Amino acid sequence: YDATPYLPARGGLPAHRRAAAGCRGCPLYRDATGTVFGEGGKDARVMLVGEQPGDQEDREGVPFVGPAGRLLSRALRDAGIDEDGLYVTNAVKHFKFTRDETRKRRIHKAPSLRETLACRPWLMAELRLVSPELVIVLGATAGRSLLGPSFRVGTDRGVPRPMPGTEDGPRVLATVHPSAVLRATDRKSAYEGLVADLRTAAGILS
Ligand code: URA
Repeated sequence: YDATPYLPARGGLPAHRRAAAGCRGCPLYRDATGTVFGEGGKDARVMLVGEQPGDQEDREGVPFVGPAGRLLSRALRDAGIDEDGLYVTNAVKHFKFTRDETRKRRIHKAPSLRETLACRPWLMAELRLVSPELVIVLGATAGRSLLGPSFRVGTDRGVPRPMPGTEDGPRVLATVHPSAVLRATDRKSAYEGLVADLRTAAGILS
């Protein structure tokens, strides 16, 4: 599995977005509606990286437009981060799912490490083209892609660090995935933890 052969040899975000629409670098393109590429300008100071598009993102072709995205918007607002001026993307650009018994609902399935690494060249291209000052990693899948397979949200969250393998690269700050907040038994404290990490991010920017 590898997206590399599908990347354009040159061009900016628009050329990459067009090429990503035809990516067959792993099998996830087969069942998804389409590729969900990142959204935002090349001048964004902050890049947010989620896991993969959800059901609604898959149908609309835009990242973080469903329930997790609404929670994320609220958390960004509470942390004082302006959403205009962000670049928002995912570690994996196709929706992976199984169907329930009635075959009506599509149920999110976490991408494998192999699928995540296959999609990584798209994320690396977005990082190179946007060149943000700060990357906010949302959850384990994005963390494993950007910080290595031993990444653990529980131990690695909330502490800014340099991007591995770069010298003047962006700072990286990991936090929980907004979907994990939606699933948490103690939703209020999970939400407060997310906002606290995003406030740390806001502090790096100001
Ligand atoms: N969850 C993600 O990680 N990304 C999205 O775009 C939506 C939900």
